Amino acid sequence: MAKRALITGITGQDGSYLAEHLLSLGYEVHGLVRRVALEDPSRRLHRISHLVDRLVLHPATLETYPSIFNVISRVALDECYHLAAQSFVAESFNDGFSTMNTNINGTHYMLAALYELRRDCKFYFAGTSEMFGKVRETPQTEMTPFYPRSPYGISKVAGFELTRNYREAYGMYCCNGILFNHESPRRGFEFVSRKITSTAVQIKLGMATELALGNLDAKRDWGHASDYVEAMHLMLQQPEPDDYVVATGETHTVREFCELAFCELGLDYGKYIKIDERYYRPAEVHLLLGDSTKARRQLSWEPKYQFSELVKEMVHADLAEVLQSGKAP
Ligand code: NAP
Ligand code: GDD
Repeated sequence: MAKRALITGITGQDGSYLAEHLLSLGYEVHGLVRRVALEDPSRRLHRISHLVDRLVLHPATLETYPSIFNVISRVALDECYHLAAQSFVAESFNDGFSTMNTNINGTHYMLAALYELRRDCKFYFAGTSEMFGKVRETPQTEMTPFYPRSPYGISKVAGFELTRNYREAYGMYCCNGILFNHESPRRGFEFVSRKITSTAVQIKLGMATELALGNLDAKRDWGHASDYVEAMHLMLQQPEPDDYVVATGETHTVREFCELAFCELGLDYGKYIKIDERYYRPAEVHLLLGDSTKARRQLSWEPKYQFSELVKEMVHADLAEVLQSGKAP
């Protein structure tokens, strides 16, 4: 019998790679999607359009318990990957209330519905290095205390604790991934990596003249999303549930990302970057660097992509897209 998995956030970057990965392993893959996505499939389902015939999509939203309860009552699930969230840190400063609502209550609804209906279903929560925030030590491990610096980070700490508590209180198989930044050609345009690669391509092709950015000195441990979804799956295949840091163990500044991306197109980034105060955050996370020794030892996981390969792939994917469509990405 094929294993049955539900992915919330299947229309997002990670959801699309995870769906591909689980299908390749023979899973029956279900996705929870907002109704608006089903009504506007060409745009909202673009990351999974190549898979859609092999998926079972269920309309629901993280905003209400009954919609989640209905989906979970209809499918006998073996595994549930809870990826859906308001995931943009900057936006969480603009609207902390809705970020908290989606990310905390949405996670609580998922856990509560599984507790009621599918107590044996394994659960993955998309925790994040943003929980380390103003880091207490470097590199960051599973033992590093949390010090979130944004409503988003705070909401994810709450989701992490809810997940751990369902594991400890009810003996459910619940895991937290503490994933450091991961990118890909499917990354949303609001995140700095994709903003850099897509704008650099537009500059190269004469469709833009500058790139406006905020803090160039922030350091991130950047990996590739396709490597990171494999770690999510491995976490749910262990004898006991646990929490794991997933990271490359290398950190780079936003400036280095720019330098590499522009260089790939034969451009000097220094000539095109404009610093714009609007992109600074009220409280910044200055340095993230993960130590994923536990995941490497216990899950036999390791990333395949190097930082330079990730940047190159993103630049060339954006270039190919613009050359093909003739429009800015
Ligand atoms: P993403 O591309 O922003 O995708 C977010 C997904 O959540 C989308 O499918 C979105 O659906 C869905 N969603 C948002 N609000 C929803 C709601 N109210 N009801 C139902 N679905 C909703 O994010 P990602 O990069 O794939 O990240 C996946 C998860 O990992 C997120 O929880 C994120 O916080 C976490 N994470 C990401 C990273 C990273 O570097 N990428 C690192 C650590 C943790 P629509 O398409 O309908 O908007
Ligand atoms: N987005 C953005 N836009 N970021 C900028 C800009 C800009 O114009 N200029 C500088 N930055 C800096 C931000 O201040 C931050 O320090 C860094 O670039 C990375 O920003 P993002 O790409 O927006 O990602 P993030 O690190 O805040 O959050 C991502 O990674 C987290 C894991 O650590 C998201 O994917 C989160 O969902 C995820 O949890």
